[in-house]
This record gives sequence, C-alpha cells and structure tokens, in this order.
Amino acid sequence: MEDKKYAADIESITKAHALIKPYVHRTPVLSSETLNSMAGKTLFFKCECFQKGGAFKFRGASNAIFSLDEEQAAKGVVTHSSGNHAAALALAAKLRGIPAYVVVPKTAPKCKIENVKRYGGQVIPSETNMQSRQETANKLLHETGAVLIPSSNDARIISGQGTVSLEFLDQVPQLDTLIVPISGGGLASGVAIGAKSINPAIRVLAAEPKGADDAAQSKASGRLITLRQTNTIADGLRASLGDLTWPIVRDFVDDIIIVEDKEIIQAMRYCYEILKVAIEPSGAIGLAAVLSDKFKQNPVWKDSRNIGIVFSGGNVDLGCYARSCFPLEESNDKKSGS
Ligand SMILES: Cc1ncc(COP(=O)(O)O)c(C=O)c1O
Repeated sequence: MEDKKYAADIESITKAHALIKPYVHRTPVLSSETLNSMAGKTLFFKCECFQKGGAFKFRGASNAIFSLDEEQAAKGVVTHSSGNHAAALALAAKLRGIPAYVVVPKTAPKCKIENVKRYGGQVIPSETNMQSRQETANKLLHETGAVLIPSSNDARIISGQGTVSLEFLDQVPQLDTLIVPISGGGLASGVAIGAKSINPAIRVLAAEPKGADDAAQSKASGRLITLRQTNTIADGLRASLGDLTWPIVRDFVDDIIIVEDKEIIQAMRYCYEILKVAIEPSGAIGLAAVLSDKFKQNPVWKDSRNIGIVFSGGNVDLGCYARSCFPLEESNDKKSGS
C-alpha cells in the first residue's frame, strides 16, 4: 500500500496504539445467534460504547493529547464539537492534567454537554451554525494559546481511531468485512488503513444516514461534497468529510451503505432487547446497515461472511432514547388511556 500521501499509515496507527494503551479500554466483542440468523451472517460487535467516555472518540483524543509536547500541552486544548469528541477530549485532558476548552452549540444533546462538564471540560456556548462555532473557537485559541484538536480531520485523531481495527482483528482474526459509521470520517479512515494494512483483502464499508449522505455523494461523484443541511436522528453523523479524511475514504473505504432513520431506531431496539446494550443512534447504524434489504440484496456484498460491526458509542439521553425507540407504544398508550 503506497500510503505516504495520506494523513495516517500503519506506523502512525501502531504508534498511537502503544501511546494510548495505558489509558483506553480494550473493549469487548459481543455476538448473538439471534442477530446472526436475522442477518444470515456471522456478526461480531466491537463495543466502543464501553470505551471511556462512552465512545471510540477517546482513542483519537488521547492520541492527540498525549502526543503534545510539554510546552504545547501546558496551555491546554480547544475544540468545537457537539458530542462525543468534546467529552473524550475533556477526559483525556483531565488525565494529562491540562485545561480543555470546548465550544458547544446551544442545541447539543443535554447528556453530551453533561459529559463534558463531568470530565472537567470548560463549556463555552455558541450558536448552532458552523461560523459561530469557528469564531468562538478562534477567539479562545487567541486568548489562551491552546492547541486546536479537531474532531476528525486531523492526523492524530485518524491514527487514534485506527487503533479500533488493530484490536478488532486481533480479537477476531477471521473477519472478512468491517462496517463502521461515517461522519467526519476519522473512524472510517483510521479503520480502513489499519485493517487493510493487516489484511489487504478485507472489505471496509461505511454506514451513513440518508439525511446526511455527503460521503456517499462524494464517493459517487469522485469529489468532496459537503452538505448545507442534514436531517437525521444520528446526532454524531451530521458532519462532513474533510480534506484529510476524504482521500482516505475515497481510496480505502470500499463502499457506503445508506441507512434510513427508521432502520437505525429498529437497530437500537435490537441492541437493547437482544444484546441488552444501550447504543446511541450513530452507534447502531452498522447493525441497521447489515440488516437492511439494501445490504442483503447487494450482489457484491453477498460473499461477506464474518462481519465486524463497530458499536461506536452509547451516549444517548434516556428521554430521547425512549421517545425514539418507543414512539408507537407511546401514542398507542395515549389512545388506549393506559
Ligand atoms: C457515536 C459516534 N459514532 C460515529 C461517529 C462518526 O465518527 P467520524 O466523525 O470519525 O466519522 C461519531 C462522531 O461524532 C460518533 O459520535
């Protein structure tokens, strides 16, 4: 693999793994005969919902923070993120004993803002639009001299997220296919490079919600497309690819599976009811993809047998979880007066 032109390679991912090993969990892999028979495949679920901070994001954040030199680290780190990256960065910064300034749009899910605060991050509110988020972050960078750590379009982050694939293939060497969610593309890029360096024949697929399908559109047109508006329940999957993640996704991710929100909700229910695991919408999309008719009917993907699915996160607000997973029961209950 000629990989020098990309932001990460197997050396940077292996190095990241060695650096973050003392801080991250080696997350477990679950399986279920029931889900296997529903999919007609053998499925393995890598439970990054049990990662520290509740999502794989802690891997990239730890790699970024622990690779800063003392002088850089002393001034702290800044990011703008509405979700799991923000909490992960706050936690990694706490472990290193440095400040984390997190710009969070006012509309971010409550449980995710609480996570940032719980880990000692300083929350700075902004408007929801990207311009306000960037301006607020730039002001902070200027005032504090801290280092900006983006959520996905960053070499340190991509390498850190790639460590998921090293662990997964070590735990289940017979995997012939991996399915990961895609948004900014940090996870998909790192996993695709890591997995294909270990096993060049492995198939790496990314799952993306229909209402935020910029990666699918970019792959189809061969150029980076970003969306002005998105509409999906998966709050972690609304961002677009960047100039570092796009070339990797273009060249190493085999295909994108587009998933409807109702399929994501059904997959969240299966996770809870069958596996007894609470997964957030963005984290359940891989299971939704493999159970979809689109996947089952695709002639190219038919030969995938041992499929690894990354459950990327479990940070879901309980109220939101109940409203998304049980809307029918709720309205039926109201109608029947129960
Ligand atoms: C739970 C979860 N899964 C997947 C993703 C997508 O990751 P990436 O932006 O690296 O594509 C995110 C991003 O926030 C996330 O929070």
